[in-house]
Amino acid sequence: MPKTDKKQNNTSNAKFNAMWGGRFSDKPDDIMEQINASIGVDVRLWRQDIAGSLAHCEMLVKQEIIPADDGKAIMDGLKQIAGEIESGDFEFKTSLEDIHMNIESRLREIIGEAAGKLHTARSRNDQVATAFRMWVRDACVDVVNQIEALQETLSTLCKAHKNSIMPGFTHLQAAQPVTLGLHLDAYVQMLERDKARVFYCGKNRANESPLGAAALAGTPYPIDRDFTAEKLGFKHPMPNTMDSVSARDFAVEFLFSCAMCGTHLSRLAEEIILWATPQFGFIQLSDAWSTGSSIMPQKKNPDAAELVRAKTGRLNGNLIQLLTVMKALPLAYNKDMQEDKAGVFESFDTISLCLQALNGMLSTATFNTERMLETAEDGFTTATALADWLVMNLGLPFRDAHHVTGAIVKMAEDKGCKLDALDLADMQAVHADITDEIYTVLSVKK
Ligand code: ARG
Repeated sequence: MPKTDKKQNNTSNAKFNAMWGGRFSDKPDDIMEQINASIGVDVRLWRQDIAGSLAHCEMLVKQEIIPADDGKAIMDGLKQIAGEIESGDFEFKTSLEDIHMNIESRLREIIGEAAGKLHTARSRNDQVATAFRMWVRDACVDVVNQIEALQETLSTLCKAHKNSIMPGFTHLQAAQPVTLGLHLDAYVQMLERDKARVFYCGKNRANESPLGAAALAGTPYPIDRDFTAEKLGFKHPMPNTMDSVSARDFAVEFLFSCAMCGTHLSRLAEEIILWATPQFGFIQLSDAWSTGSSIMPQKKNPDAAELVRAKTGRLNGNLIQLLTVMKALPLAYNKDMQEDKAGVFESFDTISLCLQALNGMLSTATFNTERMLETAEDGFTTATALADWLVMNLGLPFRDAHHVTGAIVKMAEDKGCKLDALDLADMQAVHADITDEIYTVLSVKK
């Protein structure tokens, strides 16, 4: 990402902002400049901003709103700027506020006066909304791919462990035997829904073009909004110009999709943390995905999983932040909306990191299937199967079967043995009709 250096680039010798300072006779206060500038954040929109400008310029030429030679100069200049930013040669200036004005100002340096024609029939309001939607759209593609990569790792584990028995938990108490395959597949399903949400956001909600709305009321020039929408890969132009420049629900939906996915990942992370304790001993993380303790040599800590668990805080925070910025904002554009990007960028970075970290952890971990089986056998996890046997074979009402089973579990607990180690006679003392058929459901493997 290109760097910006506030101090070095502060063009405090400039009398006023060259991009909008026509009616200003004094330059902004330093703190005004600081609070107003967003270049440190929205520099990440440079590719989308340039693509948006290229499409807009092409449309202006096609519609004969600006002369073709000026259009060519603008487009060549924009491509040169893209090269400069890519190579790190571009000098970003805080005094020029944001990515849009930094690029336009550089265009003026390169091609001179004709640069001023690019902003015909356009405002930064539709310009920024366009670039931001394009950025979110691209981000959604990345997140979908990363979710899919984690799903693949999980699915491989599901197949490998479709018969690996472990205790299934409710209330974190051993409940009924399940397989590790079934358990991990639950996360594949959660991720499937997360993926659908992110996919929808990118393909639909963010995928409409605000370009041509200008500041809020449209523009008197004979523009072609369908042309720019199509050029930029949007489904169609947004129908209402005021909504075009002030809608940010696409960003909120992206943030929610990340927060929801992060919440799912935090549950998986939490289970990895629990399973990696010596007390559970279900999973061993590879050295590459563990850290040691500087004081306690025996420890191997699941830091990455703990950080995934914790990063949900940022994802949730960013969602609430933008909802709060948008709450009660009157139409149409307000500068408040400049605060819409930092959280979206951070949530994207965070969810990408978390998805990759979990993928790395899980694809290199080993599961201790013997220990899982042992634990499944320990907690009387076949008690429900016993109760069901009583219902299906002796015709007991379930509540009565539950009661009889409770007494049998109590007996095993007192004797310190598993259910399948109880004598038939002992069980018959609780309910006389029980036969040795009962043993077919008492072991977890059955
Ligand atoms: N940097 C601004 C933003 O992100 C661009 C739009 C500025 N528009 C304006 N009318 N001042 O919102």
